[in-house]
Amino acid sequence: MPPSPLAGIRPHRFLSVIAATLLLSGCAGSQSFMHPAGDSARTVMTLAWVLFAGAAAIFTLVMALAWQGARRDGRAIDARRWVIVGGFLFPLVVLTVLLGFSTWHSRQLTQAPSGDALVVGVTGKQWWWEVRYADPHGGTTVVLANELRIPVNREVYLGLETSDVIHSFWVPALGGKIDMVPGRVNHLRLRADKTGTYRGQCAEFCGSQHALMALHVVVQPPEEFAAWLAQQARPAAEPSSAMLHSGRQAFFDHNCASCHAIRGTRAAGHLGPDLTHVASRLYLGAGTLRNHRQALSHWIADTQSLKPGARMPSFGHIDDETLAAMAAYLDTLR
Ligand code: CUA
Repeated sequence: MPPSPLAGIRPHRFLSVIAATLLLSGCAGSQSFMHPAGDSARTVMTLAWVLFAGAAAIFTLVMALAWQGARRDGRAIDARRWVIVGGFLFPLVVLTVLLGFSTWHSRQLTQAPSGDALVVGVTGKQWWWEVRYADPHGGTTVVLANELRIPVNREVYLGLETSDVIHSFWVPALGGKIDMVPGRVNHLRLRADKTGTYRGQCAEFCGSQHALMALHVVVQPPEEFAAWLAQQARPAAEPSSAMLHSGRQAFFDHNCASCHAIRGTRAAGHLGPDLTHVASRLYLGAGTLRNHRQALSHWIADTQSLKPGARMPSFGHIDDETLAAMAAYLDTLR
């Protein structure tokens, strides 16, 4: 028999490696349910710990019984009593208590929103997120992408849809996850109580670039949020130099407007993200690249190597000068 791969590893070392793996795997700060920044996430974390403690207690008990059984010294047991008590009554009581506790404890997750809740629409797409806010000035809906901004300490009610396959909206630090199912609008209630930037991730396999379908949620003080939303509702800035003009012209010449909208110009495509304020976002390509001017030209020229299978083709044939002007123009859309 070949030696076990674990032979020679002392049990306490083995156990500490397992413990460290379990502890560290969930510790990436901005995307961790163990660092809750809102009431829904705190509810989920308490539930998780209670269920984990329940499971650990049952596991310990079963292992103790198995150990006892393995070293049994021939004494007969009352099988009928073990089946009724251990196999029926014990799980019935434990599961009923856990079900009762989790239903009671998680009741606020499914509450209807209060009157002053901020309502935001989010649509999952292969592989990015369209985000819609009501225009604070009463105009048309403000359409954004891949970034959700919300005011701290205010209830947020999300309407979640998909325009293609099933996606799942999950920002672990702010709340539980919920699927986005074709033909349905699902809802999620959040209230963040700490400002900061939290990472979310599509949590349902939705095709080859599922992993590059991230979303950032920026929680801001109310006045900062209001200023941000007012700015997002404005049309795009006009180019202020000849070079920026040529960048915008190149955007039209290469048919970018058939997929992208830039409010205030004739670009009104809706297959890809709205770019009216693209430069104000933290990331490009749903978390693929940090957003800055070089990243914009990199993304335009190499889309298919950065995110193979994305709907946008690579525009690697555009000459460097034109590409630089396009990226410079897009970088003014704040
Ligand atoms: Cu969208 Cu996974």
